[in-house]
Amino acid sequence: MAKAKSTVFFCRECGFESTKWLGQCPGCHAWNSFTEAPAQRTPQKRGLSQSGKGAMGISGISGGADIGKAVRLEQIDMTRQPRMDAGSAELNRVLGGGVVPGSLILVGGDPGIGKSTLLLQTCRQLAAAGRKVLYISGEESLTQIRMRADRIGTFTGDLTFYCETDLDVIEEKLTQWKPDVVIIDSIQTMYREEVSAVPGSVSQVRESTAVLLRMAKGLGIAIFIVGHVTKEGTVAGPRVLEHMVDTVLYFEGDRMAAYRILRAVKNRFGSTNEIGVFEMGERGLEEVPNPSEYMLNGRPEGASGSVVTCTMEGTRPILSEVQALVCRTNFGMPRRTAAGTDYNRVNLLMAVLEKRLGLAMGQCDAYVNIAGGMKISEPSIDLAIVAAILSSYQDKAWDDRTMIFGEVGLAGEVRAVNMCQQRVDEAVKLGFTTCILPKVNLARLKRPEGLRLIGISGVGELLGKKKNG
Ligand code: TYD
Ligand code: MG
Repeated sequence: MAKAKSTVFFCRECGFESTKWLGQCPGCHAWNSFTEAPAQRTPQKRGLSQSGKGAMGISGISGGADIGKAVRLEQIDMTRQPRMDAGSAELNRVLGGGVVPGSLILVGGDPGIGKSTLLLQTCRQLAAAGRKVLYISGEESLTQIRMRADRIGTFTGDLTFYCETDLDVIEEKLTQWKPDVVIIDSIQTMYREEVSAVPGSVSQVRESTAVLLRMAKGLGIAIFIVGHVTKEGTVAGPRVLEHMVDTVLYFEGDRMAAYRILRAVKNRFGSTNEIGVFEMGERGLEEVPNPSEYMLNGRPEGASGSVVTCTMEGTRPILSEVQALVCRTNFGMPRRTAAGTDYNRVNLLMAVLEKRLGLAMGQCDAYVNIAGGMKISEPSIDLAIVAAILSSYQDKAWDDRTMIFGEVGLAGEVRAVNMCQQRVDEAVKLGFTTCILPKVNLARLKRPEGLRLIGISGVGELLGKKKNG
């Protein structure tokens, strides 16, 4: 057997492992992201391993007692893992129905997006529901936590705060205290003495996660890990540990806009299609149970260039407003911008209008915007962009109660979209009276009451469907 090398190289972005330094990472294609780190030791058996086979390594199994057992499906005891109610309908949905005991959950996101706030609120709810909760902070002092907690509300129940970054000490405390839920804020501040690298480096982050994984599985504690997304530098991002944890949630949104979206990227205990919507307010994060209504807030009435469309976020339909402003260009080179959607897509759709409908788009500036700071990349938004551009070009407004969605092809044809029924139902729920959609989708649609469905097969058909035209 070849002698194992004592150091290996890791990509700081995605954790790709290589025996030699590489300029570009084959995993995530990032440049100059490799750092040298000592090779991972074979996981030691510590006091937590229950089977004595040392199997509680990096690939831990929930409930250490299961190791070495062979049973039939119907013999598996299902009463052992009741999920804990996280106290928030949005978070519960993203987690697939609540917090699974003994699971390791990574909450990633840009610094300052609200991860600590979200988890502090979750702690508050869990403690109030009678769970034993421990919040370990390596970033903020107890006074700072108190200041945040005072904004959020009153705290009751068995909730302990603890400032520590040494994982060996944390491990000792967890074994002693046996809480139900633990928050680690953040993984980039945690370290183990044995690993000779600075906290936040790839090897520290990986080793720390391995220790936490062993504790979660061995002691049946649900552990939430906060991981900051880092642009560059020496700090390893949360992607490095994605493969080790059970659930990966990303908290995203514009720091300037109030709403935040919690998205499941990986979930061993539920679907990854779900999102939770929150709003950052004066007193912490508030749930937004009806995001469509929220996104359409403050929509101008009777203004040209404004169109409501419906996109799917997992299984959840969300209505949003597409705005376009088209005006004659003052210079030879038309200016185009796209905020919240793909710039090239907007250019492509304008070329389709020019070629198929003969409109002089080449002499027009166009600014397309998704109101509310949403980012939409779904092709079903095409028809709404086209409708908004046409509306602004002709300066004729669409009816306020009309919703438009569909994909547009290069020949100007309107193509089918998926999950059409959910989109149509959402339109009805929010009081829309007309829906313009791909004709091919009509066949399999249950027609809801009170909504006029107009199926179209080409972008040209939009021209004849104006409010005032
Ligand atoms: P925080 O949870 O500290 O972010 P992270 O842990 O992801 O780095 O959230 C920080 C931001 O949230 C901060 O800019 C202040 C804002 N905030 C509010 O607007 N209202 C509040 O009630 C709280 C607690 C925070
Ligand atoms: Mg924080």
